[in-house]
Amino acid sequence: RRDADGSGAHGSGADGPGAPAATIDVLYGSQTGNAEFLAGEVAAGARARGLGGRVAALDTVTPERLAAMSHVLVIVSTYGEGELPDNAGLFWEALRAAPAPRLDGVRFAVLGLGDRGYDDFCQAAKLLDTRLEQLGAERVRQRADCDVDFEEPAALWTAEVLDRLAAETGAEQARDTGVPAPGAGSGAGSGAGSGAGQAAASGTGTSGQAAAPGRSRWNRRNPYRSRLLVNRLLSAPGSAKEIRHYEFDLGDSGIAYTAGDALAVSPVNGDGLVGALLGQLGARGDEETADGPLAEVLRTGREIRTPSKELIADLVERAPASGLAAVVGRGDRSDLDAWLTGRDVVDLLRDAGRAAPDAGELLPLLRPLQARQYSISSSPLAHPGRVHLTVASVRYEGVDRRRHEGVASTYLADRAGGDAVVGVHLQPNASFGVPADDDAPIVMIGPGTGVAPFRGFLHERAARGATGRNWLFFGDRHRATDFVYEDELTALRERGVLTELDLAFSRDQAAKVYVQSRMRERARELYAWLQDGAYVYVCGDASRMARDVEAALLDVVAGQRGRGADDAAEYLAGLRRAKRYVRDVY
Ligand code: 2AM
Repeated sequence: RRDADGSGAHGSGADGPGAPAATIDVLYGSQTGNAEFLAGEVAAGARARGLGGRVAALDTVTPERLAAMSHVLVIVSTYGEGELPDNAGLFWEALRAAPAPRLDGVRFAVLGLGDRGYDDFCQAAKLLDTRLEQLGAERVRQRADCDVDFEEPAALWTAEVLDRLAAETGAEQARDTGVPAPGAGSGAGSGAGSGAGQAAASGTGTSGQAAAPGRSRWNRRNPYRSRLLVNRLLSAPGSAKEIRHYEFDLGDSGIAYTAGDALAVSPVNGDGLVGALLGQLGARGDEETADGPLAEVLRTGREIRTPSKELIADLVERAPASGLAAVVGRGDRSDLDAWLTGRDVVDLLRDAGRAAPDAGELLPLLRPLQARQYSISSSPLAHPGRVHLTVASVRYEGVDRRRHEGVASTYLADRAGGDAVVGVHLQPNASFGVPADDDAPIVMIGPGTGVAPFRGFLHERAARGATGRNWLFFGDRHRATDFVYEDELTALRERGVLTELDLAFSRDQAAKVYVQSRMRERARELYAWLQDGAYVYVCGDASRMARDVEAALLDVVAGQRGRGADDAAEYLAGLRRAKRYVRDVY
């Protein structure tokens, strides 16, 4: 399935009788899988309207191919601080490079996915939208930028763009219009379209038909109420971390996932935090609001751990003498981030003193409570009907020694396995999974809870009887307390499923050792695996670990090839384009 959607070479029914009026190229840049998933739906929608629809990752498309396309729909997410997704960076570089390609005659529209909680909201979409226009392409419809609840605005944009294109090109409406059923492409348009229907179905993340129901029936607003069957501590007492293993019952949900997908958990805020906030507001909790009793709204409906940008702006204006106003006034973003670490909404209200808003003023300044995504750590082949998660509980001491907790991680930690019910929905990530080719070697780099998806990969490959070699780089602080799944990994090693296991316990010796140190030590073998066609996967911390791992990969390649840094960068870009270097980082 991994290779099915990206080549762009899949038939769109462009030949033979009944060929569609126009072919729509749906190009995605996706980090967690949402944009990729939507691209599959948009292509299916195109086919349902009698148009051709093909799906490809942005990075697989060269400027020359782009210039030859007639209709291009770009769906791109933004992650981190305004960054492009991993599979869109090369495309962006090519569009910016001189000489710039000319795109006259190309009609296009851009859909952005993002999070208003960040400064550079939908930055990647804005960049691409502007650049495509500069290069001469003509907009079919203005860009839509979607916040975390993207489903409705994305569906609206899709319907408008596709209806307009169908009308313009005189496409014959297929029998089945409206929201495409999974695989609708195969029944619609023309006989020649069936291949494309399959291509899109595989792009949605699992083997075709099952994917869409699992995804569309349960979502943020309507999560599946799953029984939490297991909640077990993985890290040993004495560890600085609390890492837990969870198992959820999929029951009759119909949720069909593949190893590498994520599960979104809909949490509620803890009683301690809600109580502290009510106390700070001088409220009882039973006060009626437009959305119900105040305590209930704070518990289930609003983000009260992390302040929104709107709340920060409001507090600065109300209380110009506060500590917050002082740090905001200095104008240094990282200063503000440091100050906010260890402070929640309660601390900020306290900091604002008598100028702080009351409950009625506060509520509109709080964002809706979001679901949290965790990489699934199981394979459905090894554990049918269940989803496993591997999650570190976030707990630390705040500024005034008040105990601070995460939201979803501690919500889960506090539920007893066996009977608790938790709202969940699937977040498919079609780009992050074991190769379709069971013989291909894979290299997995996942320190800490970054190991989660790789446990799923190993189970998946074992269950499939895949013969490809598997290499895991894992690490954490101390072997004695933090070697999660040690028994399992050891057993997999003995069975020969795990071909190589390199461990980096950073604090078991005087000098720090990290996964990337091990990669450097094993440069020769690592490069040999790459030359043998290995896929490389990275999961875990984005800001430091994934960055340093990438630097190590480049060093390994440069050192082994001996042709310099540019050559190594091009080698890695080649891996990216071939979808053989993929990351699930956060
Ligand atoms: P440290 O905390 O001892 O520095 C999981 O959190 C593991 O990742 C820990 O062993 C941690 O080491 C390590 N780690 C911290 N920074 C890292 C980085 N930049 N690259 C790789 N691993 C890192």
